[in-house]
Amino acid sequence: MNCKTIVEGTTELLVPIPPEGSNFPPSAAPVFYNPAMELNRDINVAATAAFVKRLLAKRDMEKEDIRYLDAFSASGIRGLRVAKEVGVHATLNDWSPEAFELINKNIELSGLSEKVCASRKNANVLLHESKFNIVDIDPFGTPSPFLDAASVSALNLLSVTATDTAPLCGAHLNSGIRKYAAVPLNREFHSEMGLRILLGACARELAKHDKAMVPLLSHVTRHYVRSYLEIRNGAKQADSTLKYMGFLSYCPHCGGREMTRGLAVHIKPECPFCGGLTEIAGPLWLGPLREKEFCEEVLTELEEKTLGTKEKASKIISFCRDELDIPLFYDQHVICKQLGVSASGIDLLIASLKIKGFKASRTHFSGTSFKTDASVAEINEIIRVLG
Ligand SMILES: C[S@@+](CC[C@H](N)C(=O)[O-])C[C@H]1O[C@@H](n2cnc3c(N)ncnc32)[C@H](O)[C@@H]1O
Ligand SMILES: [Zn+2]
Repeated sequence: MNCKTIVEGTTELLVPIPPEGSNFPPSAAPVFYNPAMELNRDINVAATAAFVKRLLAKRDMEKEDIRYLDAFSASGIRGLRVAKEVGVHATLNDWSPEAFELINKNIELSGLSEKVCASRKNANVLLHESKFNIVDIDPFGTPSPFLDAASVSALNLLSVTATDTAPLCGAHLNSGIRKYAAVPLNREFHSEMGLRILLGACARELAKHDKAMVPLLSHVTRHYVRSYLEIRNGAKQADSTLKYMGFLSYCPHCGGREMTRGLAVHIKPECPFCGGLTEIAGPLWLGPLREKEFCEEVLTELEEKTLGTKEKASKIISFCRDELDIPLFYDQHVICKQLGVSASGIDLLIASLKIKGFKASRTHFSGTSFKTDASVAEINEIIRVLG
């Protein structure tokens, strides 16, 4: 395999050189490496460092005792970076023989063989066999076939990436229903819909094993969804987590939304605002997507560490910290188009909503998205005045 040395964060490692002059996707190389995921990995280093600090503050353990599993490791980059840049023990697993060979080379190159070990198993087997404080699953496409085993293995934190955004957000409807046993709606809030479908699936998988989850940080960036879920043990806690599950009624006629918590619910088919027939999505996670204080801790880590995407990462996490907990954002441009008015600056819209006494914030999902507790009619009125 033709390799070159790269540096991400402060970690040096070998990655495959893609075939000459080609436009092959990273998955076409003998071992996967996607430089575009540096941002995801930088945030992972900062989020894992912040979580490890919390864990050490609560428990009588040394940093080296904390075990991190990079279950789909490819070149080993994710886990190696965590071992070097956070300082915990890491297991780098990949079932591909070529990946396993490269992982071993990279461990040798890093000089971290005391803190890192390689494994060549089906991730599901390893996850059922061994428990880890932190389990990171970053497979090709959907994490759904691995969520059950990951829920067994993860003791304190489950970090999940999903790149199957089309099924998650409803663009490939039946695939999403099969993978996540939930019905998504592909409307203007599709990126947040995908995240809430994924979190709903995680909550139900964890609940099977009497585990609860607290989303510490979640972001949808480019074409992937990433979430960091703190694990809490106990049937009662799991029951409480499931209370955050529910359904969205969305009115395609007036854009009105209503949430109903529960897994067996009565939902009226008519829109409470205009009487039109609504569409239903769910079951979805309707709880918080992040913990504000954790975002602060991640921002501190981002500031202190050497990271190639520091600025971009900090911007995303600041937006995550500041966005309202209300499910499903509105898109200013979509509403302006419907109303036939031109769009003001988004900050002016947020300020106008606040002046009228509503809660309002921008979101990390897109530059034109916002969250508010105002109703659609109230939002429309404000946007008309501004347009
Ligand atoms: C998206 S890549 C991982 C990328 C890596 N985490 C990174 O940040 O560069 C997915 C990897 O999972 C491996 N893989 C796929 N299915 C697997 C399974 N069931 N068990 C173990 N490894 C698997 C593939 O060989 C591939 O290297
Ligand atoms: Zn309506």
